[in-house]
Amino acid sequence: MKNLLERIKAFFLAKKQAFAKGAKPKSDADNKSAESAAGEKEPGRFKKWLLKVKEFAKRKPSLFIAIIVGIILVLLLVTYEALHLTSTPEFCGKCHVDTETGAGAEYHTWKKNVHAAANVGCIDCHGKPGFFGYMRAKMGGMYDLYSEIVHSKENKMAILTKGATDKAYAAKLVPNDWCLICHSDDANKRIRDNTFMSFFGVKMRKVDAVKNPEFRELNGLRDIFNDEMPNINFSHDTHVNTLGLSCIECHMGVAHGGEFKNRPKMEDCFTCHDAQREKNPDIAAPANEDCATCHKTVVETQEGTLLLEEGEEPSIPSMMVDMGVYGADNCSSCHMESAFELPTAATCGTTCHGEMDYGFMFDDIRAQFDAVKAPLDKLNMQLYSVMDKMTKEQRAKFNEFKDYYEILDYDRSKGIHNDTIYVKAADKALAIGNELASSLGIPVAATDENNQ
Ligand code: HEC
Ligand code: HEC
Ligand code: HEC
Ligand code: HEC
Ligand code: HEC
Ligand code: HEC
Ligand code: HEC
Repeated sequence: MKNLLERIKAFFLAKKQAFAKGAKPKSDADNKSAESAAGEKEPGRFKKWLLKVKEFAKRKPSLFIAIIVGIILVLLLVTYEALHLTSTPEFCGKCHVDTETGAGAEYHTWKKNVHAAANVGCIDCHGKPGFFGYMRAKMGGMYDLYSEIVHSKENKMAILTKGATDKAYAAKLVPNDWCLICHSDDANKRIRDNTFMSFFGVKMRKVDAVKNPEFRELNGLRDIFNDEMPNINFSHDTHVNTLGLSCIECHMGVAHGGEFKNRPKMEDCFTCHDAQREKNPDIAAPANEDCATCHKTVVETQEGTLLLEEGEEPSIPSMMVDMGVYGADNCSSCHMESAFELPTAATCGTTCHGEMDYGFMFDDIRAQFDAVKAPLDKLNMQLYSVMDKMTKEQRAKFNEFKDYYEILDYDRSKGIHNDTIYVKAADKALAIGNELASSLGIPVAATDENNQ
C-alpha cells in the first residue's frame, strides 16, 4: 500500500517537473533555445499543419478569412441549434417520462393542457423571462442532467413530488412574473422595460417575444387585472396585488393537473376565507353560503340573461319553471347538502320528486346534452392543431368560437341550469366553428341535427 502511494507521488512529481520545464521558456531567446533543444527531432504534425495554414493564409488572404468566418458561423449555428434542441418539450420529456399525473409525469400532463395546445412550451414557464433568464434555465437543465446521472430515482421523485404538492415550494419554482408576462398588459410592459429580452431579436423561445396586448388578443386571453373573469366574480387585483398571493395559491397544477383546463378549486377559496374571517369577521369576502356572489355565470344562466341579444326575452329554464326553483336565491333547492355535493339522479328523483323515474329522466337529458357537446370537443382540438396555419382573421374567429364553447365547458350541469342557453351556445359555437373549419379545409363537425 505504502509502496503504491510512493509510486503515485513519484509519478506526479515527475509530471510536475516536466511541466515546469516545458512552461518555463517565456522570452524569445528562451523560445529559440527550447526549439533548438528539441531541434533534433522533426517538427510535430500539428506544427507542420500550422505552417501549411500560415502559408495558405499568406497566399490567399481573402479566401482564408472567408473560411474562418464560415467556421465561426457554423459553430454558432451548432450552438444555437443545440440550445434549441435541448429546449423542446420533447427533450424534457426524455427524463420526465411518467404517464399518470403528478411527479414525473410533467411532459404527459403538459401535453394534455391548453398551454401545450397554444404552443406554450416548458421553458416558457420554467425560466425567468429575458435572455439571461433563458441562459439560467439552460444551466438549470445542465443540473437536471447531472442529477439524472448522479442522484437515485428516489431522490429525483422526492424533489419532483415536492414541486407537485408543496404550494410554497411550487410558487418559488414559477414566480408570479413568469406567468404575468403573458397574462397581464401592465406587468408585460414593466418586465420588458426592465429586462434585456434578446440579442438583436434572435428568438430562443416564445415568452421572450411576447408583447401585450398583441399576444393576449391574438390568443383570445383576458387581461387578468383589467378584464372580468368569464365564470366567477373574482378580482385578481385584490388577491394578487393587494393581498400579495402567488398564482399557485389558486392555480396549483395549472399545467400539470391532468386536464385541458385546470380550474381553481372552491375548497381553496373557502379554506382561506374561513381562516381570514376567524381573524377578522368583517373582511369583504363573501360567505360560503352566498353562492350567487361568486357564481355569476350560473346566476345569469339560471335567470336566462346570458347571451341575451337585443329585443330578446330572458329564457326561463324549461325544466324547473313550474317549481320556481330557478334563480339566484334558489341554488340550495337543488344543491341541498353542501356546496361540494352535486345534485344527482337520486337527489332529484327520490328526494325531490318522490319518484326515481324523474331521476332517470335527469340522466337522459344530460346524456343528450353530452351528445351535443361531444362533436364540439373534437372540433375544438382540431382547430387548435391547425392554429399555426390560421390568418389573423381566422384566429379572431377561433377566439369567437372558444367564447361560446367555453360556456358549455363551464356548465357542468349539462343544460340542467338552463337548457335553452346551453343549446343556444352550442348552436353558435357549431356555426362559427364549422365555417372556420371549412375555410381551413378540415372536416366540419356533425351533430344529430346535421344527420337528420
Ligand atoms: C437528463 C434528464 C432530464 C432532462 C433532459 C430534464 N430534466 Fe428536469 N429534472 C431531472 C431530474 C433528475 C430532476 C430532479 C432532481 C433535481 O433537480 O435535482 C429534475 C427536476 C426538474 C424540475 C424541478 C426542479 C426543482 O428544483 O424542484 C423542473 C422544473 C424541471 N426538471 C424542468 C425541466 C425542463 C423544463 C426540462 C427541459 C428543458 C427538463 N427538466 C429536462 C431530469 C431531467
Ligand atoms: C403554463 C406554465 C407551465 C408549463 C408550460 C410547464 N410547466 Fe412545469 N410547472 C408549472 C408550475 C406552475 C409548476 C408548479 C407545480 C404545479 O403547479 O403543478 C410546475 C412544476 C413542474 C415540475 C416540478 C414537479 C411537479 O410535478 O410539479 C416539473 C419537473 C415541471 N414542471 C416540468 C415541466 C415540463 C417538462 C414541461 C414541458 C413538458 C412543463 N413543466 C411545462 C408551470 C408550467
Ligand atoms: C408564454 C405565455 C404564457 C405563459 C408564460 C403562461 N401562460 Fe397561461 N396561457 C397562455 C396561453 C396562450 C393560454 C391559452 C389560451 C387559449 O387558447 O385558451 C393560456 C391559458 C391559461 C389559463 C386558462 C385560461 C382559460 O381560458 O381558462 C390559465 C388559468 C393560465 N393560462 C394561467 C397561467 C399561469 C398560472 C401561468 C404561470 C404558471 C401561465 N399561465 C403562464 C400563455 C401563457
Ligand atoms: C385567490 C385565487 C387566485 C389567485 C391567487 C390567482 N388566480 Fe387566476 N383565477 C382565479 C379565479 C377564481 C379565476 C376565474 C375562473 C373563472 O372565471 O372561471 C381565475 C382565472 C385566471 C385566468 C383565466 C382567465 C381567462 O381568460 O379565462 C388566468 C389566465 C389566470 N387566472 C392567471 C392568474 C395568474 C397569472 C395569477 C398570478 C399572478 C393568478 N391567476 C392568481 C383565482 C386566482
Ligand atoms: C389566501 C387567502 C385567500 C384565498 C385563497 C382566496 N381569497 Fe378571496 N379574499 C381573501 C381576503 C383576505 C379577502 C378580503 C379582502 C378585503 O377585505 O378587502 C377576500 C375577498 C374576496 C372577495 C370580495 C372582495 C373582492 O375584492 O373581490 C371575493 C369575491 C373573493 N375573495 C373570491 C375568492 C375566490 C373565488 C377565491 C378562490 C378561487 C378566493 N377568493 C380565494 C383571501 C383569499
Ligand atoms: C367565494 C366564492 C364562492 C362561493 C361563495 C361559492 N362558490 Fe362554488 N365555486 C367557486 C369556485 C372558484 C369554483 C371552481 C371553479 C369552477 O368549478 O367553476 C367553484 C365550484 C363549484 C362547484 C363545482 C365543484 C366541483 O366539484 O366540480 C359547485 C357545484 C359549486 N361551486 C357550488 C356552489 C354552491 C352551491 C355554493 C353556495 C352554497 C357555492 N358554490 C359558493 C367559488 C365559490
Ligand atoms: C334545478 C336544479 C338546480 C338549481 C336550482 C341549481 N343547480 Fe347547480 N347544478 C344542478 C345539477 C343537476 C348540476 C350537475 C351535477 C353533476 O354534474 O352531476 C349542477 C352543477 C352545478 C355546478 C357545477 C358546474 C358548473 O356549472 O360550474 C355549479 C358551480 C352549480 N351547479 C352552481 C349552482 C348555483 C350557484 C346555483 C344557484 C344560482 C345553482 N347551481 C342552482 C342543478 C341545479
